[in-house]
Amino acid sequence: MKIITTIAEVRAIVKEWRRAGETVGFVPTMGYLHEGHASLISRAVADNDHVVVSTFVNPTQFGPTEDLEAYPRDEARDAALCEGMGADIMFRPDPAEMYNNPKVSVVVNDMNEHLCGLSRPIHFHGVCTVVTKLFNIVTPDTAYFGEKDAQQLAIIRKMVQDLNMPLEIVGCPIVREADGLAKSSRNTYLSSTEREAALCLSRSIFYGQEQIKAGMRANDLEQAMKEIIAKEPLARIEYVKVVDALTMNDIEIIDRPVLIAVAVYIGKTRLIDNFSFDPK
Ligand code: PAJ
Repeated sequence: MKIITTIAEVRAIVKEWRRAGETVGFVPTMGYLHEGHASLISRAVADNDHVVVSTFVNPTQFGPTEDLEAYPRDEARDAALCEGMGADIMFRPDPAEMYNNPKVSVVVNDMNEHLCGLSRPIHFHGVCTVVTKLFNIVTPDTAYFGEKDAQQLAIIRKMVQDLNMPLEIVGCPIVREADGLAKSSRNTYLSSTEREAALCLSRSIFYGQEQIKAGMRANDLEQAMKEIIAKEPLARIEYVKVVDALTMNDIEIIDRPVLIAVAVYIGKTRLIDNFSFDPK
């Protein structure tokens, strides 16, 4: 496996693969890889002749008060994981390689005015801009995203459709710790008491999954899930929402595919979790 920091070098290698008629899978990440990322890489390796993993901590998707500087990094461990899983390239450019006084970017409409977009107003513009740049650099046939970041996945799917990007997007299921907590690079911020408290997210998700199957209405479901989280003194709820899975709009009647998403602060750490449900 090659660790590459320049755009030109990625392009040169991908060009050779393309010349040979081989397929390219791409897994964009911000590094500090865990089993959630590994599940995407393993799917990409199974589906494609070659796999590129990017581990770029993208500054443009962090707000001014967010954790850009503190975001965990471990390049050596990331490289070992990528290599062990059979990736061909780990792409980890410096910010200066990716951004040179930019004046043009991707703008998201409507879909970012819900859920995480409300508290992170520039986040999805930054995500879509960097993902577009990475797609243009790697030119993959298929790119792999986790359902863990369900709003991100829905927005990327719409971006690919709206901007006629010539690739397929594959969504991969949420990978959890044995006790239910969704794996996340940010879990490393949690103290041991906070780690225990963080289980209120998955507890509310699992309860929600049962209740929605039993026919609970959207409002009641949001309320019941909030009550479970509110029992945990270290938890501060940002949102618990049932939304249309495609548009992210609020809904009252569950008559189409929905996303049930939660964002909760445990101490200073913001965690998200979700599940999807199709009534048909
Ligand atoms: P990052 O948070 O590193 O996540 C990279 C990919 O791994 C995302 O598609 C995310 O949904 C997926 N992922 C993370 N935890 C997961 C879990 N527990 N189970 C399944 N998949 C999981 O998302 C980003 O980076 C960035 O916004 C990025 C798309 C790379 C743009 O900078």
